[in-house]
Amino acid sequence: MVRKPFGSLDPLWYKDAVFYELYPRAFFDSNSDGHGDLRGILEKLDYLQDLGVDCLWLLPIFESPLVDDGYDVSDFYNIKARFGTVADFRTLIDGAHQRGMKIIADLVMNHTSNQHPWFREARSSRHSPKRDYYLWNPDDQKFREVRIIFIDSQTSNWKFDPATNEYYFHRFFPEQPDLNYDNPLVRQAMLDIIKHWLDFGLDGFRCDAVPYLFKREESNCENLPETHAFLKELRRLVDENYPGRLLLAEANQPPIETHQYFGNGDEFQMGFHFPLMPQIFIALKKQDARPIIDVIRRTPPIPNMAQWCIFLRNHDELTLEMVTPEERDFLWREYAPDPRMRLNLGIRRRLAPLLDNDRRKLELAYSLLFTLPGSPIIYYGDEIGMGDNIALKDRDGVRTPMQWADAPNAGFSTAEITALYSRAIDDGEFSYARVNVAAQQSDSNSLLNAVKKMIAIRKSHRAFGRGTCEFLETKNETVLAYVRRFENEIILVVNNLSASSQTVSLWMSSWVGHSARDLLTQTEFPQIEVHFPLALAPHQFLWLVLK
Ligand code: GLC
Repeated sequence: MVRKPFGSLDPLWYKDAVFYELYPRAFFDSNSDGHGDLRGILEKLDYLQDLGVDCLWLLPIFESPLVDDGYDVSDFYNIKARFGTVADFRTLIDGAHQRGMKIIADLVMNHTSNQHPWFREARSSRHSPKRDYYLWNPDDQKFREVRIIFIDSQTSNWKFDPATNEYYFHRFFPEQPDLNYDNPLVRQAMLDIIKHWLDFGLDGFRCDAVPYLFKREESNCENLPETHAFLKELRRLVDENYPGRLLLAEANQPPIETHQYFGNGDEFQMGFHFPLMPQIFIALKKQDARPIIDVIRRTPPIPNMAQWCIFLRNHDELTLEMVTPEERDFLWREYAPDPRMRLNLGIRRRLAPLLDNDRRKLELAYSLLFTLPGSPIIYYGDEIGMGDNIALKDRDGVRTPMQWADAPNAGFSTAEITALYSRAIDDGEFSYARVNVAAQQSDSNSLLNAVKKMIAIRKSHRAFGRGTCEFLETKNETVLAYVRRFENEIILVVNNLSASSQTVSLWMSSWVGHSARDLLTQTEFPQIEVHFPLALAPHQFLWLVLK
């Protein structure tokens, strides 16, 4: 049955939305088998609604051997049994829609699992009709300019397959063979999958690893014009048949390349702002606003319909692929002093440990997330300041069970502890006895309540999602100040990135005579004059509405 998209028909809804990235396996286990599932998410929708979330991004839920946590899909049309059924997915989408929320799912377009029937068939014989769904070569010397992404575990993007004595190409793990987008059947198959789930009622996709779809000799096989042409075709399909659905690009590229994924307003509606994220961490550590200002200034303007998705952390390592070698060394040194905290070109830690579990720094980071241009996304558990477990392999340390309560298994599951896909964090300052939803819900001063309040304020002022952003001269490099402006709404945001008190005098000639009230505390400020003096406590931030 073809379902209509729910609710608001504003096709630009994503510009005002607050997103939440959720790892289904970790969220809530409804059937006590030790793995989170779709029914578990359904049971927690009220929590997400109460937090103010507008759109959930679900990490992969389709059939998969889970070599790369579901980014190795073996059947795009079925839900992995451990996570539930197609009927459960239906109920979950309906449950979200009833609460005014949307759901987008991960769509892994670049590759499949090596257990996908296409690949099984393709590797069975050089003459298999599916052979050309993948990329084969007699040696591993083709596409030599392609970088390796999982540098800690891979030495080549080619894997020898003895069955037919040829190599196949893979950008990620060898269990994830890359699809051959030059094959029109592959392109059509992917479009059919997309149509299927949009007909089902899904509100869109977070499209995985999109820069790598097409491959060409003598190039690094990233961001090729052929790839953009196909993505534009995908967007056309959505616009013509599913207006209001969202395509969000995962393109971990420099600003100028990332920006290309918006096309001329005819490609993705949203893209993650990968270049901004590490600069936020540099700025916080150096107590210097310039890295943030510089990266935003280096980011070209985007089409009207487009929106950045801004984030602090996600389910992968904090990627340092798009920073200079000096910046990378700085971030590694400052944020990953223990080698176990490093993975590939990144840092496998969560937000709260990265910020020393310092409440003021955490709130300041959220102030940036909720007020800089773009729509914010929260990684599950970061709203309560969950910790990580660097003893676990790969990226598992940032994918531990959601900490609901000071109860066995953090209230995530009633299974035996040995049955859990991963143990909840149960020691130290981040143990579930100390960090959990229930405790923070009943504490009006908790991080959870602070985040919830910021979200509510953000959502009642469209300038945050849609407004222009103008940086103000502060003559004090530790203070980041900007004006967000949309229609008649003017909001002045001031962030003190420093651990000490600061004074600034903002040059406010354009707003002389305006009144200023802090949206966070309701404090009224003196009427604005050309020089607007402010005294800021360590890590303090103000969201001043000017009238
Ligand atoms: C993306 C995902 C990551 C995954 C990879 C391969 O980068 O975020 O988790 O391993 O693609 O699909």
